[in-house]
Amino acid sequence: MAKRTKSTFIHLECTSCKKIFPKEQLLNLCISCSLPLFARYDIEKARSIILKDQLLYREDTMWRYKEMLPVEYEENIVTLGEGWTPLVAAKRLGELLGFSKLYLKDESLNPTGSFKARGMSAAISQAKEKGVKKIAIPTAGNAGGATAAYTAKAGQEAYVFMPDDTPAAFQIECEQYGAIVEKIDGLISDCGKIVSQRKKREGWFDISTLKEPYRVEGKKTMGYELAEQMNWQLPDVIIYPTGGGTGIIGMWKAFQEMEKLGWIGSKRPRMISVQADGCAPIVRAFNEGVERAISVENPKTLASGLCVPTAVGDFLILQSIRDSNGYAVAVSDEALLEGVTTLGKTEGVFAAPEAGATVAALEKLLKNGQILKDEQIVLFITGSGIKYVDVFTSSEKVS
Ligand SMILES: Cc1ncc(COP(=O)(O)O)c(C=O)c1O
Ligand SMILES: [Zn+2]
Repeated sequence: MAKRTKSTFIHLECTSCKKIFPKEQLLNLCISCSLPLFARYDIEKARSIILKDQLLYREDTMWRYKEMLPVEYEENIVTLGEGWTPLVAAKRLGELLGFSKLYLKDESLNPTGSFKARGMSAAISQAKEKGVKKIAIPTAGNAGGATAAYTAKAGQEAYVFMPDDTPAAFQIECEQYGAIVEKIDGLISDCGKIVSQRKKREGWFDISTLKEPYRVEGKKTMGYELAEQMNWQLPDVIIYPTGGGTGIIGMWKAFQEMEKLGWIGSKRPRMISVQADGCAPIVRAFNEGVERAISVENPKTLASGLCVPTAVGDFLILQSIRDSNGYAVAVSDEALLEGVTTLGKTEGVFAAPEAGATVAALEKLLKNGQILKDEQIVLFITGSGIKYVDVFTSSEKVS
């Protein structure tokens, strides 16, 4: 008989109109209001079956939090060993920039080299559980690579759409995993439109960021891990590079769940979202005090994962930033690339340009008095720089 996971997943709930949907239903957005759905859990049950102190003995992947993840049968878990990434003290970077308690959560060590692996492990496992055979995704690069790898492992087909200026390694990687890749003369939002238009005819399940309820479940495990690795005391500040926003949204959800589980108290880190000057819809909306962001015209940044002109979960990103007394800041492409170099030279971590933005943000936030030198600060190094070699080698692009 198939072995159950002890997941306490009970239903899906709309993040806006709060309508409830059965967990068995294969859904994208809320059927009533077309906004993102969240998985909800029987927290009381989870509380009684997971002993926080026993987590120590569990597997060193994100599946250590299985009761708070949506997959119901062990055989449907599609894993490449994602999660449980190191949290390292960034002593030399801290000394250079004047911070005494600076840490890196190094997501570049995930399978396929970015935090996107977590989301895809959860989403592709759910797709497998529901019998989905064909997956489609618009991507800035990393999500495509992760989709292709996890669908390969699951025996599903992947159709990946990426802007034609996406670094070449992402296309090669996807193809090596057997995915069908189409490069589009346009932005990630144009890729998203193509997926929407063709999905019905082609029989694809669309796993675009937050248009599918489970990627965010995988990403929330960054929040669980951070708490566990910090002995259940969250830091003062989290700095996260933001495109579609699932990283921030997922961690914020994790903190709420963990408080209900009795694992942490009510203290929250200030969530700081970093975007690029050439594409900063969240920063603009944050500064203007509005709930939804306006799409950016002609967005331009070398950090392809931040070149997201419009995000379906914009209101959720803004809510987490505001509820946490955080900020949204933008940095230039020059500064984020310099951030990569500084990080490399001081900490031996070769980061993606998006992650370099977190280093660039530090100086700006300090200057504005938004963070203090002796606060406990965690930078999320969301991905590896290795697939972006064309960005780093093209002097024309950098200048
Ligand atoms: C390395 C890296 N960091 C950050 C992001 C932004 O993530 P999100 O779209 O979840 O905000 C991306 C997205 O592609 C990425 O590849
Ligand atoms: Zn709704």
